[in-house]
Amino acid sequence: MLKINQLTKSFGTKKILNDINLTVQKGEIALFLGSSGVGKSTLLRILNNLETVNSGTISLDGTVLDLTKINTTHTVGMVFQQFNLFDHLTVEQNITLPLEKVLKKSPADATKIAHHLLQRYGLLDKNNKYASQLSGGQKQRLAIARALAMEPKIMCLDEPTSALDPVLTSFVANNIQQLATDGYIVLVASHDTDLIEKLNCTIYLMSEGRIIEMAQSENLKINPDGFPKIKKFIAGHE
Ligand SMILES: Nc1ncnc2c1ncn2[C@@H]1O[C@H](COP(=O)(O)OP(=O)(O)OP(=O)(O)O)[C@@H](O)[C@H]1O
Ligand SMILES: [Mg+2]
Repeated sequence: MLKINQLTKSFGTKKILNDINLTVQKGEIALFLGSSGVGKSTLLRILNNLETVNSGTISLDGTVLDLTKINTTHTVGMVFQQFNLFDHLTVEQNITLPLEKVLKKSPADATKIAHHLLQRYGLLDKNNKYASQLSGGQKQRLAIARALAMEPKIMCLDEPTSALDPVLTSFVANNIQQLATDGYIVLVASHDTDLIEKLNCTIYLMSEGRIIEMAQSENLKINPDGFPKIKKFIAGHE
């Protein structure tokens, strides 16, 4: 269980996150919704130790995470909006390089893990292509596979469908849903209403640094009027 407790983050004098509190269970998807600049990426970046916090704690299964250190435990995996793949490396090397350099796996073990993940994400035939030669959807899947190779407990995906067409959005939604089924704690930042409709998730609407409304996607479908702020936000983005 991931527990975010009274998290506050400012850039200069501007409070971006103001007393964020939430709990995400294993196998659950938390989806952060909100206007541009509201702090969705910042929240995911904090979890990955790419930003510091001003106050508050984050704990995983009762253990408080050290937010001052670089993400050396690999508890959290991140799929960036722009994927941040190593374009000059092959598809396979994108996975094997961090396994060898960071987790100190042998080349044989790293290759085995890479092949397994590439098979699972339908990329094994692209093995020796450069990452730069992949389509947007293929890059997305490679970014997920690369993050999963590090065996995180928490997977963060920042705007995972922003570069994709509606068909690929469905594929990505399935992949994200599968991560939850596989037992990961999944956090997604998105304002893609197509994606929101396809995920079984808990939606957190953010505004002015706070979570202003929360809904289970199932409940939102049955009773949209019960969640007026989320309903209004989604209507404005369709
Ligand atoms: N390193 C930084 N230094 C100063 N300000 C920053 C920094 N990173 C983000 N900000 C500011 O913090 C706010 C939140 O940014 P963030 O990227 O988290 O928003 P977001 O909700 O992900 O937006 P979008 O939907 O456009 O991706 C913005 O006002 C942004 O300009
Ligand atoms: Mg963002």
